[in-house]
Amino acid sequence: MLDGGTTLSKFLIDTLDRNPSPVQASGLSALLIDVAASIKTISAQLTKGALGGNYGSATTINTHGEEQKKLDIATNDIFLQHCEWDGLLAGMVSEEMEDVYAIPPAYPRGEYLLAFDPLDGSSNIDINGVVGSIFSVLRVPAGLKAGAAAIDSAFLRPGYEQVAAGYAVYGPSTMLVISVGNGTHGFTLDREVGNFVLTHSDIRIPEDTGEFAINASNERFWEPPVRRYVQECKDGRSGCRERDFNMRWIASMVAEVHRILMRGGVFMYPRDFKTPAMQGRLRLLYEASPMSFLVEQAGGMSTTGRERILDVQPRALHERVPVILGSKNEVERIARYHADYDRGEDKPYTSPLFNKRSLFLPEAPV
Ligand code: F6P
Repeated sequence: MLDGGTTLSKFLIDTLDRNPSPVQASGLSALLIDVAASIKTISAQLTKGALGGNYGSATTINTHGEEQKKLDIATNDIFLQHCEWDGLLAGMVSEEMEDVYAIPPAYPRGEYLLAFDPLDGSSNIDINGVVGSIFSVLRVPAGLKAGAAAIDSAFLRPGYEQVAAGYAVYGPSTMLVISVGNGTHGFTLDREVGNFVLTHSDIRIPEDTGEFAINASNERFWEPPVRRYVQECKDGRSGCRERDFNMRWIASMVAEVHRILMRGGVFMYPRDFKTPAMQGRLRLLYEASPMSFLVEQAGGMSTTGRERILDVQPRALHERVPVILGSKNEVERIARYHADYDRGEDKPYTSPLFNKRSLFLPEAPV
């Protein structure tokens, strides 16, 4: 090994180009290096903080009706600029764009599709908190005809078909965590040299954990199996779990998943009835799917509560799904609670706060 460790390029050349499998056509390593270049540029921007001139809200609303931050738009442009020219992509989908981004005619089209969330957890920007970027790579199906509609439908494929997925976490250090289907590996940005260096090889999520993360302010909208699980954790050693749990909530999926990859835990943004029209909060193509790929590759588990997330067939580019992921034994338990409930075999969890005479009755039927 050369001084300075295994860089991302060396890792990718070794893993993909010198050891190609039928699903890993040439070019994937070059594409991932362009994605890494986007991440380095974003990292440099974010490090400037308020001095970068990109703080605050833009005057625009994204495709989900959320107010965009200036940095949401700037980081989206960084991804587009780094990845559109290389002749490896047929299209891109982003949280910040309603439609598929077609590769400009000036550049050749390639055989991959890139979906990304350029700045996950962007509400943390104003407080100098941890944020991230998430990405997912699919191959264009063989024989795909040109045209916008065809490219749209090419993105609507279950997560198990991903050929690569990853995220960047912009914390005290910037890390890139990726999987190309042979485990989940973490690289730390050496800012002085400008290289991502392999620091966390073959990450494994512990099967058991004493930590869970959920936005507890939504409790009254949760389904009974989730309320049951969380209540049991809160009951700690005096309840049926007979041990204490700790709760975390950073409001940035990247930061939560990173913690889980580093030391285990469960992250939940479950189905709830706050906005009945929405199945969940997190987006399937560029949040739930790539994170589930990384978690499974690290020995963890990821489910909607009722279905493995990597098996979910997307129906729309910006579709949302419930997400429950992390340490295998806990996620299995939560999935079992959903199954018990659906079969009517679960004694629904009733809290004294939610009984008939309570002021805190759930606002929608469950
Ligand atoms: O885009 C989604 C996201 O920012 C996630 O990164 C995070 O887990 C979640 O939303 C935070 O949601 P809430 O605002 O309910 O805490």
